[in-house]
Amino acid sequence: MIVVDDVHKSFGAADVLHGVSFTVKRGETVCILGGSGGGKTTLLKVMIGVHKPTSGAVAIGGKDICCLRGRALDEARRSFGVMFQSGALLNSMTIAQNIALPLEYHTQLDSETIETMVKIKLHQVDLLHAADRRPSEISGGMLKRAGVARALALDPKVLFYDEPSAGLDPIATTRIDQLINRLRDSMGMTSVVVTHVLESVRRIADHIIMLDKGLVILDGDLDDLENSSDPRVRQFLTGEVAGPNAGVLTENQYLDDLLM
Ligand SMILES: Nc1ncnc2c1ncn2[C@@H]1O[C@H](COP(=O)(O)OP(=O)(O)OP(=O)(O)O)[C@@H](O)[C@H]1O
Ligand SMILES: [Mg+2]
Repeated sequence: MIVVDDVHKSFGAADVLHGVSFTVKRGETVCILGGSGGGKTTLLKVMIGVHKPTSGAVAIGGKDICCLRGRALDEARRSFGVMFQSGALLNSMTIAQNIALPLEYHTQLDSETIETMVKIKLHQVDLLHAADRRPSEISGGMLKRAGVARALALDPKVLFYDEPSAGLDPIATTRIDQLINRLRDSMGMTSVVVTHVLESVRRIADHIIMLDKGLVILDGDLDDLENSSDPRVRQFLTGEVAGPNAGVLTENQYLDDLLM
């Protein structure tokens, strides 16, 4: 479904991705993990065509996303949905109107059909009861689910999520995870989820990609993650401050810094 082929990305002098390659099968949920600043969001943005890679390519459903521009890119983007961290909903409209928006913009469907489709999407994310509320009137977890409903509006083949459970309590996190699993099990949805919540990964991941400093350090499943002997993976799993991740200082380095 998705082929990421030797993607490099720099912003000026900063090299963020150093040759990232992996594939995603149709109907699987892939979790992209890694420490802060490791390039996860950058990779996601390259995959959805927001950033052009410095070199390398990404194909979704056989279409090379990276070389498309303008209308062709718009057309390709209709085959996938993106759930942004903030939900990215317009507060001047109700939840139902927000979900109707892409249908009004991209299709010729009449308003009655759109209304029915919006109800189906809201039902899929358990938000039928909140259809007429505005984004500011619902909770953070509900906002995220509304973001998923909007991402689902055009019946995408792939859904991308950037930190879907950031800022949510454990129960709201579980509900998002259950939603991701339900979409996979009932519709065969392919999902790409950037997250660093390990419990979520254990609940939803069929496939795991771990990034460290712009390189893939693990490409496998949950067993591969739990049994990895790579110290960088182990450090991520245990959350130890001391370890190979140079983004954090050891106690001694910290003292040295202080006393300099
Ligand atoms: N538009 C940009 N211009 C310049 N540098 C950028 C840009 N976007 C990201 N970067 C840099 O790329 C690196 C990776 O950032 P990215 O947002 O991909 O990390 P991340 O893995 O998503 O981190 P987090 O877990 O904190 O969200 C960072 O050093 C960041 O400063
Ligand atoms: Mg990020």
